[in-house]
Amino acid sequence: MSWHLRASRTTLPSLITVAILAGALFSAAQSAPDKPASGPWMNASLSPDERASLVLTQMTLDEKISLLHGTGMHGLGPMSPLAVHSNGGAGYVVGVPRLGIPDIQMSDAAYGVRQSGENGRYSTALPSNVGAAASWDLDAAYQYGALIGRELRDQGYNMSLGGGVNIPREPRNGRTFEYMGEDPVLAGNMVAQLIKGTASEHVISDIKHYALNDQENGRNAVNVNIDKRSMRESDLLAFEIGVRQGDPAAVMCSYNRVNGDYACENSYLLTDVLKKDWNYKGFVLSDWGGTHSVEKASAAGLDHEQPGEYFYGAALKKAVQSGKVPTAQLDDHVHRVLRSMFASGVVDDPPHKGVVNVARGFEITQHIAEQSIVLLKNAGRLLPLDASKLSHVAVIGAHSDVGMISGGGSAQVDPPGGNAIMPAGKGRTTWQAEIWFPTSPLKAIQAKLPHATVDYDAGTDPSAAAALARSTQVAIVFAYQWESEGMDLETLTLAHDQDALIAKVAAANPHTIVVLETGSPATMPWVDQVSGVLEAWYPGTRGAEALANLLFGEVNPSAKLPITFPKSDADLPHPTLVKAPKQSIADDSKPDRWKRILEGLPPFQVTYNEGVKVGYKWYDAENKPVLFPFGYGLSYTTYAYSNLKVTSGTKVLVSFTVQNTGNRDGAEIAQVYAALPASAAEPPKRLVGWSKVQLKAGESKEVSVEVDPLYLSIFNVDRNAWQRIAGDYTLLVGGSSQSLPLKESLSLP
Ligand code: BGC
Repeated sequence: MSWHLRASRTTLPSLITVAILAGALFSAAQSAPDKPASGPWMNASLSPDERASLVLTQMTLDEKISLLHGTGMHGLGPMSPLAVHSNGGAGYVVGVPRLGIPDIQMSDAAYGVRQSGENGRYSTALPSNVGAAASWDLDAAYQYGALIGRELRDQGYNMSLGGGVNIPREPRNGRTFEYMGEDPVLAGNMVAQLIKGTASEHVISDIKHYALNDQENGRNAVNVNIDKRSMRESDLLAFEIGVRQGDPAAVMCSYNRVNGDYACENSYLLTDVLKKDWNYKGFVLSDWGGTHSVEKASAAGLDHEQPGEYFYGAALKKAVQSGKVPTAQLDDHVHRVLRSMFASGVVDDPPHKGVVNVARGFEITQHIAEQSIVLLKNAGRLLPLDASKLSHVAVIGAHSDVGMISGGGSAQVDPPGGNAIMPAGKGRTTWQAEIWFPTSPLKAIQAKLPHATVDYDAGTDPSAAAALARSTQVAIVFAYQWESEGMDLETLTLAHDQDALIAKVAAANPHTIVVLETGSPATMPWVDQVSGVLEAWYPGTRGAEALANLLFGEVNPSAKLPITFPKSDADLPHPTLVKAPKQSIADDSKPDRWKRILEGLPPFQVTYNEGVKVGYKWYDAENKPVLFPFGYGLSYTTYAYSNLKVTSGTKVLVSFTVQNTGNRDGAEIAQVYAALPASAAEPPKRLVGWSKVQLKAGESKEVSVEVDPLYLSIFNVDRNAWQRIAGDYTLLVGGSSQSLPLKESLSLP
């Protein structure tokens, strides 16, 4: 968050610390001597709910309150004196040792464990979440989450802050790299696997930021206006699938307001939808500084405040004592926290610090990167490069001699050895700074070409870069767009005039391949001039090795875009980003910054009147041509689709044949879309399923995709329920949202 390191070393103590210290006084009694807990709640054969209920009856009011708030945040000035055992992560909650309830040690872990450097530790950086979504690989998503879970435990944490699944209605959002693309069915299924993977390691898992936190600009003030049907069918559907399938132990509510109320005191989001409709049993914690009240938040369903106790410490205690917050409500909050602790296994199997398995991390992150890098263009089949035919290659731009970029903010993973573009020992990771991982494309490419000359040009002088390109057989230009929490992109145009560099190199050598390192879609005015384009996202610790394997064909590309690449910003539902007015931004330099945020900044409005037309649904409905469509990605082989059969029993079953018609083994992400009956008034089509099919050269396979009835439904606001409209449906099958050769209709009652 923007106050992690920048703003608040001086400002936060003035507010939160006072509250923290006050809290410390009233709750100091809870640090009872540690003794092995022996109550009936320690019986692991009881259900998490039974165990939570049993231990709750033993707890004092102070002990209950202490489970409902944090104790300050490391790096933000003095922590609560109760935080002596904090592991240094973003959040720390004092447990109840006398009853065997451990502390909660929270760490950010979007694409790897954060702040390992500060603790003198190491974390693997996985490819950014949007990159992982490009793999459409459910098993990879599980491995992704499990790696995070393991490395959290190795570093002494028992709770993950990750699982970002906001739908990028605003793709210039600086956190698009932390989310899983524009389609709720893809994003929801992927995040559910990530959550399950994390939970499998006995770590409290999380999904965030619930909900509609789609721009960073003015995030603490913005009021998002959106109709219920659109949010249920898009933004909330990703969470619904993530929550129902993944069963995260925690849900983090977001900073912004939704239809008038802050997300963290929004009874529609927290109680009506999450806890009632989805029957969610875990706890809701606020984003850091996202709690804004006691009674309203508590009644709306907020269970836990982070990082301090401005509202959920002494003030909550007072409200309970005076009856303003009913005891049953308090107990429900506490029950949920306890239940999640039992359910996730942190009580029975607490973490012990260990050695991060670096080698295993390399293997997993490289495998996922190889599954996530999308081949967007391959004119004249220039790729894969044939090492035996190359004697001179140019590698240009984006610090590709030393590293690849990573995503910033609370997601930032520390690179081994420090920022690769800095002198050794100087590359400290700081808030909102471009951090380059020491995975060198130049070295990885040279390793594939032991007998060729590989020359590097920094790209700072386009004429010099073009001159080098002209003298080589192939020019590989790297271009990047850095993103971070706490900021948005002004535009999808690449920064630093990189378009001009690429155009100039391409004009000098038609055998130009562009490798993009971006978190969001990028526009490509030069696309017709180059031979190849690969989208590498922020590829993580072993990005360059993965990329080189794809460039030279040791791995056949299989990833497909989880987000549409439009031709220009003008084609977006909102051609310009809505900026917060001055009064809706708390000035970093003012001492009352956090008081103003916590007590509520004046709102400004963002209105998502594109409704359900999000991502490809927008471009389809508006008939806007795109640069590269959702679901698109090339391979070094080709695939053919045939033999579609659609049957309906309790579920709709779609089966078809996919054949690898080329001479290389590969994996095809076969996609199934549905067009709903006209009376449903939906965009032309929506993704309803997919299968990633491994096919040897020449091989055919029959593929079956069972369509979840939810994915064929619309949300009926009057009935407050999902409903399948009777009528004629069309099922469409193929290799991208705009290449769907198979089609069959089906009439459903
Ligand atoms: C971010 C969260 C993060 C939290 C703790 C907030 O600013 O929005 O994603 O988990 O800080 O660092």
